[in-house]
Amino acid sequence: MFGFGDKNKVHKVTISNTGQSFEVSGKINLLQAAHNAGIEWPCDCKVGSCGTCRAILKEGKVKELADFAYTLDGDMLKEGYILACQSSLKSDITVEVNFEQKGLDNLKM
Ligand code: FES
Repeated sequence: MFGFGDKNKVHKVTISNTGQSFEVSGKINLLQAAHNAGIEWPCDCKVGSCGTCRAILKEGKVKELADFAYTLDGDMLKEGYILACQSSLKSDITVEVNFEQKGLDNLKM
């Protein structure tokens, strides 16, 4: 699952709607890094199936650790949604996170 990217590389994450920022080393995923930084990024399953950790990628690039399309629908993918628990960083990124959001199953009902 790991092994891509430069392990020593540190990328910066900026959350555009709150102004918070933190750093991610190449090895851990975006969600883990946010939690390590003390940010209460919404999450539930942590394995890419609930969609609770989704965020809109505004700038930069991430590597999909699992196919986002299993969880996010086409419209969301077009809007630039990513799953934080299934993303490692390929560059500095800017994201928008709705800290009130719930899992996608709740939305489909
Ligand atoms: S926490 Fe469930 S998809 Fe990321």
